[in-house]
Amino acid sequence: MSADRHGARQPERFDPAKAAALEDPARFVYLPVEEVEALLDAPRGATLIDFGAGTGAYCRALARRRPDLRLVALDEQPRMLNLLRQRLADEPLANVRPVLAGGPEARALEGQADRVLALNVLHELGDAALESLAALLASQGRAVFIDWNADVERPAGPPRGHVYGPAEARARLAALGWRILCERAFPYHYALAAAR
Ligand SMILES: C[S@@+](CC[C@H](N)C(=O)[O-])C[C@H]1O[C@@H](n2cnc3c(N)ncnc32)[C@H](O)[C@@H]1O
Repeated sequence: MSADRHGARQPERFDPAKAAALEDPARFVYLPVEEVEALLDAPRGATLIDFGAGTGAYCRALARRRPDLRLVALDEQPRMLNLLRQRLADEPLANVRPVLAGGPEARALEGQADRVLALNVLHELGDAALESLAALLASQGRAVFIDWNADVERPAGPPRGHVYGPAEARARLAALGWRILCERAFPYHYALAAAR
């Protein structure tokens, strides 16, 4: 495990060789984008940061549904950002900006996010990464964590031992100073809206 992953349930970095799975249309059946949009409850014109955007499957879907939003697709892996850029070359979306986590553009976003979406990524985030996510939030901002549920049998996603159940996720976030605002269950995911 690299030092920056301390606290992550799955300390290995996401393998870009698995990126095609992120574009599986079945995802939108068991986790509909309109439900994600409702949980985000982003005001008109809001800045929404997709933290760990990957190929941007949900970021792009949200951008299509909400052209008023300013979407930032943040990822720590240049290879994932390149895959996203290829998607954006095929389907330009003027309201999506790919940004490398940890770089100067990302630092300039601190305190700017009305909403942060962390989809299928909490289990990969060490405590330091969670702090950098919190630092992005504006004073009234909030984050929506949606991740694979360890407590249910699933046909997809990481092994159960690599992810959290909702109670564990709540406890981890609370221990790091997050207030849970609301919770939802999907067939294979839990969702937590939270603020600091
Ligand atoms: C399982 S993929 C999910 C991608 C996307 N959220 C989705 O659901 O389609 C996790 C992504 O998070 C990125 N990631 C993991 N830790 C990160 C961090 N600390 N900062 C930014 N991106 C991160 C990985 O590089 C990977 O692209």
